[in-house]
Amino acid sequence: MKARACRETVVSFCCSKFAAIFLFLAVFVFIFFLFNILEFQHKVITTFPAPRPHLQHLLHNFQPQSPKDALEERLLLDSIAWPETPSLPDPLSLEQTSDPAHSIFTILPEKDGRQWHVGDQLEVMIKLYDFQGHPKKSGGDVLLARLHNRALGAGVAGQVLDHLNGSYSAVFSLLWEGSAQVEVTLVHPSEAVTVLQRLTKEQPDRVYFKSVFRSGSASETTTCNVFLHPTQQPLCNYTDLHAGEQWFCYKPKKLSCDTRINHSTGGVNPKLKAEEEKLFKSGVNMKVSIKASGSANVNVLPKMKGQPEVKSSSVKSGPSGYYYQDTWQALGGTPVRQFSTSSAISQCLKGKVVHMHGDSTIRQWFEYLNAALPDLKEFNLHNLKQVGPFMALDYANNILVTFRCHGPPIRFTNVPTNNLRYIVNELDGLVGGIDTVIVLGIWAHFSSYPIELYIRRLQRIRRAVVRLLDRAPDTLIVIRTANLKALSLDAALTLSDWYSLQRDKVLRAMFKGLNVHLVDAWEMVLAHHLPHDLHPQPPIIKNMINVLLSYICPQKGG
Ligand SMILES: *[C@@H]1O[C@H](CO)[C@@H](O)[C@H](O)[C@H]1NC(C)=O
Ligand SMILES: *[C@@H]1O[C@H](CO)[C@@H](O)[C@H](O)[C@H]1NC(C)=O
Ligand SMILES: *[C@@H]1O[C@H](CO)[C@@H](O)[C@H](O)[C@H]1NC(C)=O
Repeated sequence: MKARACRETVVSFCCSKFAAIFLFLAVFVFIFFLFNILEFQHKVITTFPAPRPHLQHLLHNFQPQSPKDALEERLLLDSIAWPETPSLPDPLSLEQTSDPAHSIFTILPEKDGRQWHVGDQLEVMIKLYDFQGHPKKSGGDVLLARLHNRALGAGVAGQVLDHLNGSYSAVFSLLWEGSAQVEVTLVHPSEAVTVLQRLTKEQPDRVYFKSVFRSGSASETTTCNVFLHPTQQPLCNYTDLHAGEQWFCYKPKKLSCDTRINHSTGGVNPKLKAEEEKLFKSGVNMKVSIKASGSANVNVLPKMKGQPEVKSSSVKSGPSGYYYQDTWQALGGTPVRQFSTSSAISQCLKGKVVHMHGDSTIRQWFEYLNAALPDLKEFNLHNLKQVGPFMALDYANNILVTFRCHGPPIRFTNVPTNNLRYIVNELDGLVGGIDTVIVLGIWAHFSSYPIELYIRRLQRIRRAVVRLLDRAPDTLIVIRTANLKALSLDAALTLSDWYSLQRDKVLRAMFKGLNVHLVDAWEMVLAHHLPHDLHPQPPIIKNMINVLLSYICPQKGG
């Protein structure tokens, strides 16, 4: 770019009339790119103040992004920037950290007598206190809010706003008549986010992988990852140029890099100071409910005639849907139809090819369809139960459903290396068309890495999606978002809901405005009464499948 800018400068001197304008533009372009390059280098340093900079170096040096992608990345990073979290006291004591037991929420307005109607918004003020009972003065706590009525099978996610002063608002849409109960949960104190952020900066490779290399009777196993610490041992470079994804293993001592036969999750090795574990205690300060001061319930009356639709609120985006009688209803977008019988599902999928790509949360959808449709027969491809790839066919109805896991980093065990495929390559290998449905679910296996890895993976997948929609605009593309999970200490350090939340925001932003459909797994798990689970339970999967099928077979004349 620099070279082009200089050439333009020379050319512009020859043509007298526009010389000044050209010169100005050329200098501007030059400065712009110079600024970009400097900004980018600066960013590498500030984002990863590096005890071990070489790991990040590997990520940032491979396939430099286009200025457009780099700019988008910077904007995305800004949009998910988490409020400054407090530095931890040394020695660490919980005393001044957020304590859900001391914290409270209050339904507003505090004085009684207000009547609630369907269509109103309910606002709740949440105040956090520390273990000594002092109010917190800063934000950054990870909070969830839900409004529900178990008897009605009703539930909706609330939107939480951080006022950055120790208080938070939760805003709910009132969508059903009758009782509605507010539930507020502290997922992590802000101090725990400090630890989660530091782990990713210092130990981006804390989840690692193994590959088996075999030739004849010789076999060796080495460690693999997106980036590896340089050692005396040479590396095998499995970077995929078409997909634009990097991957390395340490080279086996005797065998060549070509003899790698399978890929497995190797283990998890987060190094945490023993006392920091106090910040991740179930029942104490991890996924603990916050109590109401006063009532946690409101009674919602029928919608008032002539009442303005939705009361003003500082929250711009409302929920994407809610449960009523345990059935997910969409708010805006495609109405959700109920596919209650196997023949209704078969009728919808008749003549379709459904390709599912992603992690085990997408594998659940394959398994669900396979179990729900007696005529959909899975071929025995002799692949491992958890790994796939899988293929199922309903010959009479001409339905093909496939599942394949996304490429590394994938925490599956014994994936033959020939079955490691990047989604980009799979999409580029498809013709697409009106009978083709693509289902993507890719999030969980990226949570322990710097978010830039995920952003860049999604940018490349999005480009492949755009190419596919360009050549076959009738192709239906459905993307499953991230969801909440049960948290133990170990689970939190690699797959905390906070990591998932950040990735979920990136995923939504990345595909905004494209002709793709989302299944909002985040809200569908949050709003449901069943416990948070990486692999949501069947009643939730059933609702997700209904959303998916509603995209494939929308209501006619609706
Ligand atoms: C925190 O900020 C919110 C919003 O600006 C305000 O309503 C609230 O009173 C503040 N709380 C404290 C304790 O300062
Ligand atoms: C790995 O291979 C890719 C593609 O050939 C190359 O661009 C990259 O520099 C290599 N990385 C290392 C660390 O050798
Ligand atoms: C490699 O993968 C195969 C399945 O593809 C499995 O049978 C074998 O046990 C694996 N080898 C090792 C050493 O894990």
